[in-house]
Amino acid sequence: MSQLKELLTKEMSDLLDAETQLTEALPKMAQAANHPKLKEAFEKHLVQTQGHVERLRTAFQSLGEEPESESCKAMQGLIEEGEKSIQEGSGKEPLAADLALISAAQKIEHYEIASYGTARGLARQMGLRDCARLLSHTLGEEESADFLLTAISDPLVQQLTLDDMGADVNLDKGERKQPTSRGRKSKQERGAA
Ligand SMILES: [Fe+2]
Repeated sequence: MSQLKELLTKEMSDLLDAETQLTEALPKMAQAANHPKLKEAFEKHLVQTQGHVERLRTAFQSLGEEPESESCKAMQGLIEEGEKSIQEGSGKEPLAADLALISAAQKIEHYEIASYGTARGLARQMGLRDCARLLSHTLGEEESADFLLTAISDPLVQQLTLDDMGADVNLDKGERKQPTSRGRKSKQERGAA
């Protein structure tokens, strides 16, 4: 096997383990999410991630290689950080807990984006068009997942900023209320916001 192909299969083996680990972590993240949009994003990405595992297997086949996974310690560490965020989040305001969860999830996405980007580059360099196309497809979904998390976090950051100032904002209608003497709302009062 050429050195380039060896590098590519090593990247793909790392990703296969990383994606498999993620299929086990995402249901816990979805369960821990407070905002329904965040919960939905994690649930949607779980289905995509299951597809990523299958697509990687297909990519291995396109190289004439058996799919092999190699323990990905980076993903293990990132998931552990996510689990820590979930544990710490139980004692926090729902918004702050969700934002910590989004932070952990985006670090995971960025690791995957970096890995798929490198793997796709190697596949393209070797003229392995089918493999590059498969990796590109998943890379696009990882980037979309990252954009979606940013889109979900923006209004949450805005709400948390106003919360810290003692104000409130209706996320669905974009209406702002004046700060009240009541200050912060409880989890029940805030509902799913
Ligand atoms: Fe993925």
